[in-house]
Amino acid sequence: MTTPAPTPVNLDLNNIQGDILSGFPKKTETFYFFQILDPTKFRKDLHDFVPIIKTVAQVLKDREEIDKHRKKKDPSGRKPPTIPLVGVNIAFSHLGFTKLGIDDTKLIDQANQGTSTGFLDGQRKDAQSLGDRGAVQGTDFVPDWDEEFKQDIHGVLNIAGDSHAIVDRKVQLIEQCFKVGTKDATIKKVTSIRGDTRPGDQDGHEHFGYLDGISNPAIIGFDKNPPPGPAPVRAGVILLGQDGDLRKDQRDPWQVDGSFLAFRLLFQRVPEFDEFVFANRLQLPGLSDKEGADLFGARLVGRWKSGAPLDLSPFFDDPDLARDESRRNNFHFSAERNFQKLCPFAAHIRKTLPRADLEENGISIEKNRIMRRGIQFGPEVTRRERQNKKTEHGRGLLFACYQSNLSTGFQFIQKSWANNPNFPPFEQTPETPGLDPIIGQNGQDDRGPVSGVNPNTPSITVALKEEWVVSRGGEYFFSPSIKALKETIGLAA
Ligand code: HEM
Repeated sequence: MTTPAPTPVNLDLNNIQGDILSGFPKKTETFYFFQILDPTKFRKDLHDFVPIIKTVAQVLKDREEIDKHRKKKDPSGRKPPTIPLVGVNIAFSHLGFTKLGIDDTKLIDQANQGTSTGFLDGQRKDAQSLGDRGAVQGTDFVPDWDEEFKQDIHGVLNIAGDSHAIVDRKVQLIEQCFKVGTKDATIKKVTSIRGDTRPGDQDGHEHFGYLDGISNPAIIGFDKNPPPGPAPVRAGVILLGQDGDLRKDQRDPWQVDGSFLAFRLLFQRVPEFDEFVFANRLQLPGLSDKEGADLFGARLVGRWKSGAPLDLSPFFDDPDLARDESRRNNFHFSAERNFQKLCPFAAHIRKTLPRADLEENGISIEKNRIMRRGIQFGPEVTRRERQNKKTEHGRGLLFACYQSNLSTGFQFIQKSWANNPNFPPFEQTPETPGLDPIIGQNGQDDRGPVSGVNPNTPSITVALKEEWVVSRGGEYFFSPSIKALKETIGLAA
């Protein structure tokens, strides 16, 4: 499948919030959810706050600094310490724009016209259809979310940096800017959540142990030499009003260069997941118990813990492949489009980016690409938790992703792919894939059977009797351009 020919890209990197295209370099990140108190005064404070926001151009500079710093020779041979850097971005929910009296009706989503459960309705209304747990009370579905996320949230600030100290100082500065805690406060904190990358050799790995952040879309005209992998996408897949945004011509001018941010608070039940993986370890000739468990786990994700993809290394982990940027994302599931000997259909990375499974049927997946920017939260698993095989401390992923259409991006991936046992649909194969074992959900414990877990007999299924990823909150936000923040949302004093 070929991507439509792009028009020449001329992105204004000083106008786009930094996390969207370049991703903040970070060891830690605080998500600060707030309500707006006095709209007019807030808009004035926002105007003064805008210079604090880091743009794509500034993040690129930060990254250059980091590269230079890493190349510096340390005579002791030790890794040089990180350099103090911090980045701040801001985004608003529909409730936020409503409170500010800003018309955001053009932020309607491609597929949601009429039946909207997208940005304009907010994520709480979408929770049931995302498969989150909850109960029907009267005519309402009330998700089993943390109380904070059941309140109205008007906006979120994300502050990322290399240490708690630098991030905390920035949070203080932001609170001063909006006079938080004083009688003149223009915002009120609803909750803030701190995420941290994991320690030591687990840096970059999510809590189940798999290397994350490998595959994000390369943007045509922005990413100069992307490593080989899925086709690069047009900027408008992520940014509103650019070529590739499905509603490009219907956006208001102030919405151009903004992006929708889907945030999800996802808890991970790590000891329980590990127990499931060990109990179902593959008992194949020549494999130890540990190797059998590692292989079974890799088949749930589609990559080994190192990051090496099953499609290229189906039976044994290959850490060299995992480190090699020119190879580790360069696969398409095409060698086995109708089979699941190499990688199960339901594996997390095949469900969330089916590559040739759809492209070879002439279906473009460009519109379904998302820019993932999450971070882990919570402590490492304790010895006691490991012994008792039971989670006692909250940990997981602060999932965040950017896209120009929620209905073809995050919502579509979660609802139509991960939660759909019949996806990907094949005529020639007898096996039903089952739900994505990592994030697929249907509001119940019993998530049904998943096939393809045993490479030799893909028809053998394993029952998913519980969830290891549990959603406890979230919201849909819009992350505006710098120009919009200055001229439309902010007010000069
Ligand atoms: C706690 C929950 C989650 C965990 C543990 C998790 C874990 C992972 C891991 C280990 C990878 C492979 C590394 C990489 O390719 O970057 C990955 C890739 C990916 N995940 Fe997740 N993920 C989670 C939630 C989600 C959610 C909620 C979505 C979207 C609905 C999602 C969408 C994706 C996508 C699009 C990819 C890249 C696929 C590719 O390009 O090959 N993930 N995830």
